[in-house]
Amino acid sequence: MHFCPVYPKPRKNKASGLLMFFSARRSWMDALYERSYRMQMGEVHLPGLDMYMVNEPALVRRVLSDEAANFPKSPLLGEALEPLLGESIFTTNGAQWKRQRDMMDPAFAHARLAVALPMMQAATQAMLKRLAALPDGSEHDVEVEMTHVTADIIFRTIFSVPMEGTDARRIFAAFARYQAIAPRLMIPSVFNLRWLVWPWDRWRSRAAAREIRGLLEKLIRPRYEAHQAGRSAAHSDILQSFLEARDPVTGSAFGFDELVNQVAMLFLAGHETSASALTWALHLLANAPDVQARAHAEAVQQLGERDVNASDLKALELTRNVFRETLRLFPPVGFFARQAAQPCAMRKKRVPAGATVVVAPWLIQRHRELWPNEPDAFNPDRYTDDASARESLRQAWLPFSMGPRVCLGAAFALQEATLILASLLRHHRFEPVAGHVPQPVGRLTIRSGNGVRLRVHHRAPVQATALHEGGAA
Ligand code: HEM
Repeated sequence: MHFCPVYPKPRKNKASGLLMFFSARRSWMDALYERSYRMQMGEVHLPGLDMYMVNEPALVRRVLSDEAANFPKSPLLGEALEPLLGESIFTTNGAQWKRQRDMMDPAFAHARLAVALPMMQAATQAMLKRLAALPDGSEHDVEVEMTHVTADIIFRTIFSVPMEGTDARRIFAAFARYQAIAPRLMIPSVFNLRWLVWPWDRWRSRAAAREIRGLLEKLIRPRYEAHQAGRSAAHSDILQSFLEARDPVTGSAFGFDELVNQVAMLFLAGHETSASALTWALHLLANAPDVQARAHAEAVQQLGERDVNASDLKALELTRNVFRETLRLFPPVGFFARQAAQPCAMRKKRVPAGATVVVAPWLIQRHRELWPNEPDAFNPDRYTDDASARESLRQAWLPFSMGPRVCLGAAFALQEATLILASLLRHHRFEPVAGHVPQPVGRLTIRSGNGVRLRVHHRAPVQATALHEGGAA
């Protein structure tokens, strides 16, 4: 029997428009109903809003990949993110997006990932040190630690400095405020009910965005000016790659504001998503002690007492499958919103120009027909034991999206997550806290509405374990 994490119980029937809006305002997953997990395609119509949800793999491929140019990113989400991210790669379309993607791609090439690894290792070591200082078996909200370590990694890989100084802490705190308010702006905008946004929320969101951008500008300005003056420092970080990037058509570089937009976007996309996934992975492992024990054994066998290096990442197969399965059950980006640029037909329905087309990995990856075997259960072995799951993986697993807008940081995220999970499992054992059941809510990413509290036990060093267990480890 596999562990099934709690998730928002779908309604029996579709909610009416206004009820749907008020449910979605708390968490968009609360607006879903039972058929949402079975249908190939669904639709919602409200005054000023035509929304189509597509689950069928062929339609999903059409929207995200084959006809991606006809389904640009919806402006609705961009509106809520604009004060912080400006016109960043996450929200732009057409030629503007293409220029940004071409200029940012090299920072995430394979060779750059190898350069980023030591920075990821250093942040992981700092995390292990923080955890080692905790009393054995004590209770902690692991979401806080996972947010800290992933923010530290993205900070080090962008700027080559650890996230320890006061400014970095202030950026981190302002991001947390921004993230808490964002859904209250985003959901009314998706439902075309902007007048329901409280002016106070709008003001607080803009104030947090101004503070973050001001702090980022302070870090970026000296490097930007030095580069302009031909005095570039010997850094091999993401910022350096962005400073050196040139538009392949015009040969122009990123302007200062453009640079700040991309860095703000990377900071958000680069830690919020990974923190969400790692937190859920620990929740799932704590509740599946047999899987946790096997993943621990894999880490001990592969690593012994040394740090994770690049060649380990491939060898840690169960750890990678744990992460894969976590991304299936709790995709950090639960839905993608696109806009139909022209009228088109989908499953014999006429979709008008301007309609919102939504692809939701949350639904597709728990779809009753696309994942016929225990779709809500945590079973990382399905990818090795079950041929139909491997087919589902190909057809209906898209936590990083697909097509031209596929996540730029997917390989970065996989490297970081495998490193963090293997390091954590080698040194610690995680146990659920009696009576505490995390409740998933759909905000900027899928997070727990009541934290993810776990007991953190320390494991004995590998050699001591080997002696204790008669050398079995
Ligand atoms: C588990 C971690 C992550 C997940 C699940 C994830 C997921 C996604 C998804 C689904 C998209 C596309 C959204 C859409 O089409 O509407 C996306 C875009 C993006 N992600 Fe990630 N992401 C993760 C980590 C990262 C990291 C670590 C970075 C950078 C360091 C990153 C950078 C980006 C960028 C730049 C884009 C925009 C790409 C474009 O539009 O061309 N992501 N991500």
